Amino acid sequence: MKKILLTVVALATAAGLAGAAVVYGGFYDISATDQHLAPTYQLLDIAMRRSIKLRAASVTVPSLDTIGALEHGAPLYRDHCAQCHGAPGVAPEPFALGLTPAAANLAHTGRAWPPEEIYWVVRHGLKMTGMPAWEQRLTESELWAVTAFVKRLPELSPPDYRRLVADLPPHDHTQDHRGEPAPQRPDAERGRRIIQQYACATCHRIPGVVGPDAPVGPPLDGIGTRAFIAGALRNEPAHMVRWLRSPQEVTPDSAMPDLGVDERDAHDIAAYLATLK
Ligand code: HEC
Ligand code: HEC
Repeated sequence: MKKILLTVVALATAAGLAGAAVVYGGFYDISATDQHLAPTYQLLDIAMRRSIKLRAASVTVPSLDTIGALEHGAPLYRDHCAQCHGAPGVAPEPFALGLTPAAANLAHTGRAWPPEEIYWVVRHGLKMTGMPAWEQRLTESELWAVTAFVKRLPELSPPDYRRLVADLPPHDHTQDHRGEPAPQRPDAERGRRIIQQYACATCHRIPGVVGPDAPVGPPLDGIGTRAFIAGALRNEPAHMVRWLRSPQEVTPDSAMPDLGVDERDAHDIAAYLATLK
């Protein structure tokens, strides 16, 4: 018994050391030009599919027939998805061809996946792939319209798709807001969670938010106790919301860009920042 136990411990230690050597030695090839080994790809794919299945099980699917899959879904798809996934007769944009994993052709996904799983992925995105979460940028009905459109993709020919998007105006990113009003009671915990969705941590160190701690902007430790915001506005909730939504209106040429923060989100993020003492 003792011998078996010792062997197990020895093997586990050896595996741990080998893993550490691969990580610290830099031996894992992180480049997007190096394709995954087939077993790695399969393992990741199974993990992804199982994770989605588990989480999508609680999603309630509305009636997709009355959602306007083509009228409402096609414009959303052209503006937000075709760049990476392509569309019938349309290639992904050149930058997207360099993604590893490459974004799936959704004509296949539309046929093979149930709607709740497509919806879940569109809403939450996929870590460690280029698949963005759309929860912060599309409304609930838009999420379902684009899901319904993906379900219809398998039956669309290239001329069908061309007709659907032929008369659409060019996409205007500055209009990509959900337009949700200010909450009655801002939710600081929600604020902490969605900070992730506005890339704040790429420039600021923010307690409670995991990120590179890169000092592009000032660290936000203790921001709740500071007298001024960016040295320009008295530090109170309404001013913080204004700063988060349009910093360059407050300080022209500020290196902090307008990130298209939705009104509701700005109130919740401001509430979280106020807790940082
Ligand atoms: C910046 C590129 C990019 C954009 C934009 C994008 N995706 Fe993705 N998407 C990906 C990548 C990368 C994956 C992961 C690889 C994969 O599984 O296809 C993915 C995965 C998916 C999947 C899982 C598909 C499968 O079979 O594995 C669905 C569904 C999906 N995206 C739908 C959408 C929809 C709908 C939109 C538009 C609202 C969208 N994506 C926008 C890159 C993108
Ligand atoms: C591209 C980098 C960048 C991103 C992304 C960014 N910021 Fe900033 N931020 C800055 C810079 C630079 C300043 C200092 C600006 C100034 O004083 O004019 C700043 C200032 C601030 C301030 C005032 C800090 C102080 O010391 O008074 C707050 C609060 C803030 N940012 C919060 C956020 C939040 C929340 C997000 C995400 C919604 C965000 N920032 C995204 C660069 C960025």
